[in-house]
Amino acid sequence: MSQSAPLHPDQKPDQSPAYITTPIYYVNDRPHIGHAYTTTLCDVWARAMRFAGRDVFFLTGTDEHGVKVEKSAQARGIEPQALADENAAEFQKVMKMFNLTNDDFIRTTEPRHERQVQSLVKRLLETGDVYLGEFEGWYDEGQEEYVTETKAKETDFKSPISGKPLVRANERNYYFKLSAYQDRLETLFADHPGFVKPDARRNEVLGRLRGGLQDVPITRTNFTWGIPFPGDEEHVIYVWIDALLNYATALNLADADDDRHRYWPATFHVIGKEILWFHAVIWPAVLMALELPMPGCVYAHSFWISEGKKMSKSLGNFVDLPTIERYLDVYGLDAWRWYMVNNGPLGATDADFQAAGFHETYTSDLVNTVGNCASRTTAMLGKYFDGVVPADAGCEFPGWDLKASADEAVTAWRAALEDFALDNACAAGIGLLRTVDAFINATEPFKVAKDPERQDELASTLARCIEAVRIASVMLWPVIPQRMESLWLAIGCDIDPASGDLTTQACWGDSLVGAQTEKVALFPRIDAASTPMADVAS
Ligand code: MSP
Repeated sequence: MSQSAPLHPDQKPDQSPAYITTPIYYVNDRPHIGHAYTTTLCDVWARAMRFAGRDVFFLTGTDEHGVKVEKSAQARGIEPQALADENAAEFQKVMKMFNLTNDDFIRTTEPRHERQVQSLVKRLLETGDVYLGEFEGWYDEGQEEYVTETKAKETDFKSPISGKPLVRANERNYYFKLSAYQDRLETLFADHPGFVKPDARRNEVLGRLRGGLQDVPITRTNFTWGIPFPGDEEHVIYVWIDALLNYATALNLADADDDRHRYWPATFHVIGKEILWFHAVIWPAVLMALELPMPGCVYAHSFWISEGKKMSKSLGNFVDLPTIERYLDVYGLDAWRWYMVNNGPLGATDADFQAAGFHETYTSDLVNTVGNCASRTTAMLGKYFDGVVPADAGCEFPGWDLKASADEAVTAWRAALEDFALDNACAAGIGLLRTVDAFINATEPFKVAKDPERQDELASTLARCIEAVRIASVMLWPVIPQRMESLWLAIGCDIDPASGDLTTQACWGDSLVGAQTEKVALFPRIDAASTPMADVAS
């Protein structure tokens, strides 16, 4: 897709493969808004791209190894695999509950993943990118990670997280030669300014990268819940290396010839900001060592906080699954998705989840704009044309050109999606509906209808309004699919996003002329008192 080209019905859709991934989620935690958020963003993009004709593969899954899972399982007196099975099922349930259209769900305890991780790590050993080494340094026992000498001094040799003293530790481990990739990583960043987005995040990584890279241990010997290191089973592969490789193993990349290879490399790895270093530095270096092509973009969004505070179970502001279910019961799934995409932390700043803000967004965007515009247009068609869409009689309305507005909106929508600016894509769709509303207010078809001499004007107005509503619905479908499909049914239009013909569907035309429509009520007005308010402790 080209960013500036407007759509034209003759333009061939881009049918190239596209690959989008979420982080794989730890199974020692229950699903919550953070997981639902990242996965929803990817779902919106995947739906839009499939509709646009691209051959999309959308991956999510669970990260099931590591000491945290081992400890959580011990605390409950069960095997780590049993805990992993239980929580992976919970995450899979969530994908269904949110109607997320992932093409696969990978679990790192699956044989297909374990086998390929071993073979990829073996490859790294053979190329010399992984070596057996000895390391002594300052270790944060709570975080299970070494901190550099400089960092340790800065925090007075205490853990910045727990405040407990750092310990001097010594380990014999397998190391990945990250330091050897300093120059190539800097070149990658210089040659591909869009490799990490948003820009603020890119600058953070670059700053740290320029500080110099140390080799990183990629095995552990102090626990066993992991993939055994090939050829030296005393060691298990560090959970982060195991986890990152999921993006490759899901496409069977370690195997010769497979249909899924066509999706490599990822168009977008979408993640939260806290795991950016692994994705923006360690991951590309591992791929360089494996001689695999680089991903297009690592998109790191920010964090949800809730009612002005960091989410915490004890504060009572944690947006967990039961809380989300209450929102779905009151407002419906489309409203939830709309709020996630438009009010979430897509950019470089955190976003505050607020019950009152949720209600306000629902009412102003979905009830008063999307719902209202569709309902007033279909109501007038019903009243003045028995619901049958009239042909555009070609009247001029100085200062108004809905076709041009629709074309511009679609161009902006496509550009926004290329940038993963999903909020701007929504703005393009809803902006077109605001233009339709303003056009109705300016041309006053309800007055024109009273004059039998002005039937052409009335037909021109309403034919254009319903066509613009139809085009807006195409742009809004990836975010609010259920309601847009109800709208399509009500206005008698035959759109199937699975057919990949967005290029045709988003083109201004007369496909609705003669269609029988009925008045729609898409988003019911909801009493603010039914909003599931959080009871936040101060
Ligand atoms: N298992 C690792 C990722 C390995 S990827 C190769 C992990 N898992 S996690 O369960 O902790 O999930 C982290 C991800 O959940 C974040 O990167 C983000 O996508 C999402 N979120 C978790 N909490 C969040 C918020 N409060 N707000 C927004 N998203 C956050 O890290």
